[in-house]
Amino acid sequence: MTDVVRDPRALREYIEMAHRNRFSLGFVATMGALHEGHLSLVRRSVRENDRTIVSVYVNPLQFGVALDLERYQRVLEDDVALCSAARTDVVFAPSVRDMQPPGRATLVTLSGITDDFEGVHRPGHFDGVATIVATLFNLVRPHRAYFGQKDFQQAVVVRRMARDLQMPVDVVVCPIVRDADGLALSSRNAFLSDADRAEALRLPRALVAAERALLEDDASPAAVRALLADAMSSERDDVEMEYGDLVHPETLAPIHRLDGHGVLLGLLRVGSVRLLDNRVVASPGTPAWGD
Ligand code: PAF
Repeated sequence: MTDVVRDPRALREYIEMAHRNRFSLGFVATMGALHEGHLSLVRRSVRENDRTIVSVYVNPLQFGVALDLERYQRVLEDDVALCSAARTDVVFAPSVRDMQPPGRATLVTLSGITDDFEGVHRPGHFDGVATIVATLFNLVRPHRAYFGQKDFQQAVVVRRMARDLQMPVDVVVCPIVRDADGLALSSRNAFLSDADRAEALRLPRALVAAERALLEDDASPAAVRALLADAMSSERDDVEMEYGDLVHPETLAPIHRLDGHGVLLGLLRVGSVRLLDNRVVASPGTPAWGD
């Protein structure tokens, strides 16, 4: 049975009880509209922890454009049913008033790793993410928190924040879940028409081609960047690669020679839908990423 908790004070009581009983706590932060990608995180948390808490909170702090915030799907009942089927213990669904009390003066800001990619295209976005995730970590006090690799830069930001602020939480980054055609699952996919979806597939295909060129044809990182741009170009004016790059998986700085791990990051805009994807690559002899 999954409890739905809306009041942060009630959540605190539950967390106190769980810590008193020495339960290990797993946490999955979401904005709802749950799909298999989220559920893979929830299932892993359930497997690895005594209790799992999932938050469902559409965070106004991380949306630059009011329209994106308005059109974000809100389907709490469905989300709770899915969490319940995945044996989540608590769904925490707080109000904006409780999470953003009037007069809030604190923002968590990271530098360097937020300067490029989503940081450029969505100014202020990572301040909103880091602030809300720090707030949620303080409320839930999880031992492990699970984030999806699809939002690679977000996962790097959360890991670094937890490390820099010495938060006692293990940030676990879980593999991307894809549809059969290769498109990474995202709540944004619901906004794609069939024709848009055919365009969207340029993104995962470009990343696979780039990985192959890098590892099998020994292409240089510069050639790989050109390949990404080429593979994502479309005859449609409203389809545009916002970025495609090969970067270091911790610093997100561009890689000029692959020695160890790298990550191919891509963002393709199809109409008004921004689609993210990535692939972690490794030079020969490098252990699997995350080992
Ligand atoms: O990835 C998301 O859904 C959000 O950015 C998160 C981590 C729940 C913070 O609001």
